[in-house]
Amino acid sequence: MNRLTSGTRIVVASHNSGKIREFRELLAPFGLSVVSAGELNLPEPEETETTFAGNARLKAVAAAEGSGLPALSDDSGLEVEALGGDPGIYSARWAGPTKDFNIAMAKVADAVKAKDAWKEPGPRANFTAALCLAWPGGAYEVFEGKVYGHLVWPARGIRGFGYDPMFLPDGGTETFGEMDPDAKHAISHRARAFELFVARCMPARI
Ligand code: IMP
Repeated sequence: MNRLTSGTRIVVASHNSGKIREFRELLAPFGLSVVSAGELNLPEPEETETTFAGNARLKAVAAAEGSGLPALSDDSGLEVEALGGDPGIYSARWAGPTKDFNIAMAKVADAVKAKDAWKEPGPRANFTAALCLAWPGGAYEVFEGKVYGHLVWPARGIRGFGYDPMFLPDGGTETFGEMDPDAKHAISHRARAFELFVARCMPARI
């Protein structure tokens, strides 16, 4: 697998503004020129695979083919033990067509309570992120990271995105929705997958 070199233009294969912002922050120290799939008017492929890794591959390969540039994708979500891993790869879909995560978080809390599985300090859960770097021509590699914790209800904080306000990482006192973004980046599923990607594919930090 080739390494990326400083100055390379790379596509972030996502249409999710929260993820794109986090990727820009994570990629900033490496001197790459970052463009998003939306800025290039690339279509959003349907996520038809059954795993985070499979969907990440599908998005990165499509963006690399569509743009002729190396493409980095992320497929991620919240897995709740008491729900057998749901919402999992369907995390975005639980927010419905309006992409309202207050609704999605309430659905998760209601689903756990409906199973009578809400025990203090809260149900066990993890965020998982699979990152894929794909090259024009079809080569790709996937990196996976997880962060474990439990859910709180009511949700707390207005930072981050998605399910952040209801996730309290192990060893912490603040939810991802309350935490300073740098503190989230130090421990998050995406940051862990990103470190594996950096070790394998990135130029030195500048
Ligand atoms: P997808 O990977 O674009 O299919 O969407 C993943 C969904 O998982 C996002 O829309 C969020 O709802 C959720 N998710 C993934 N990563 C995070 C995170 O860091 N914080 C909160 N929610 C997340």
